[in-house]
Amino acid sequence: MNQINAKNYSVNFEENGFNGLDIIIKKKLYSSIFVLVDSNTNKECIPVFEKKISTSFDFKVIEIEHGEENKTIRSCEKVWATLSDSGGDRKSLLINLGGGVITDIGGFIASTFKRGIDFINIPTTLLSMVDASIGGKTGIDFGNLKNQIGVINDPKLVIIDLVFLKSLPIKELKSGYSEMLKHGLISDKKYWSGISTLLMEKKIPGINEIFNSIKIKNEIVLDDPYEKHKRKVLNFGHTIGHAIESFFMDSKTHKNLTHGESIAIGMIIEAHISFNICKLDISEAKEIKKVFNSIFNIVKISESEFNQILSFLKFDKKNSHGKTNFVLLKKIGSPVIDIQVPDKKIKEGFEFYLS
Ligand code: GLY
Repeated sequence: MNQINAKNYSVNFEENGFNGLDIIIKKKLYSSIFVLVDSNTNKECIPVFEKKISTSFDFKVIEIEHGEENKTIRSCEKVWATLSDSGGDRKSLLINLGGGVITDIGGFIASTFKRGIDFINIPTTLLSMVDASIGGKTGIDFGNLKNQIGVINDPKLVIIDLVFLKSLPIKELKSGYSEMLKHGLISDKKYWSGISTLLMEKKIPGINEIFNSIKIKNEIVLDDPYEKHKRKVLNFGHTIGHAIESFFMDSKTHKNLTHGESIAIGMIIEAHISFNICKLDISEAKEIKKVFNSIFNIVKISESEFNQILSFLKFDKKNSHGKTNFVLLKKIGSPVIDIQVPDKKIKEGFEFYLS
């Protein structure tokens, strides 16, 4: 259990991770190597990275400010300028060392600099290990909307090393649990039950659970890398969840809602919609609510806030022909895609969340 193969790259675990980096660096003879970090990972993760690399190679660290609010074209411009000023060329490598913001923006910067240079993802948060760093989605936010600009382009390697989770705040770990639980909900009831039991007993999922979560996502992406059909299932909870996240990015209340918290609310609401529209058993919808409520506090969202959140649905990336498409569940482990939902059912889901 030390490697998962994607189409154009591998996800290497633990001791196999940095060995994979050594091999690529020896083989590819890069003209220059850059490591993209944010202000946090520069402090916490660069010292670990330096200890972990056994081949010595020169690299230049490029730092952007920490936080989703910096996942912008302005940050890209700064990094592109640094790459240019430091002699970056088409044979340069960009290593993205950080959470989802760094792997998303770094992948986008690398994919567009000189029409594309190699990049490697070293995710340092649980959320980016099990989601953002896998599957080739890269991009930035635009206005208040998440991931509106981007390309799908694979890294050359993803390194999963749990050493980086040691400095991760619990709030950020919990954000990753949401995506792991989602992987169970959309594809594997046994996996869902295993992770839920661990979390309800306040135990911490380890390397096996992380490996299996990435395996589930990778299999879905292998089937449909460009999200024409099956990959859409990864958006369960995200239609409402992204609207909540986008709304609170710009709001005075609940400003610090993590991605995982937002999509947990989304998954509870969409579980109720699934009960209403796809005959998901109400006991399963209640089980989903119970598990997420054992991880996150209930966020008191007012009706007027919820109405504003609904208005964000029209910007959802999955929309086509002016319609918002949902991923719903027939059962835990059995998703259905491209379902349109009347506002009334969304409101009922919202009431279920608050009840
Ligand atoms: N985060 C969902 C996806 O990669 O498709």
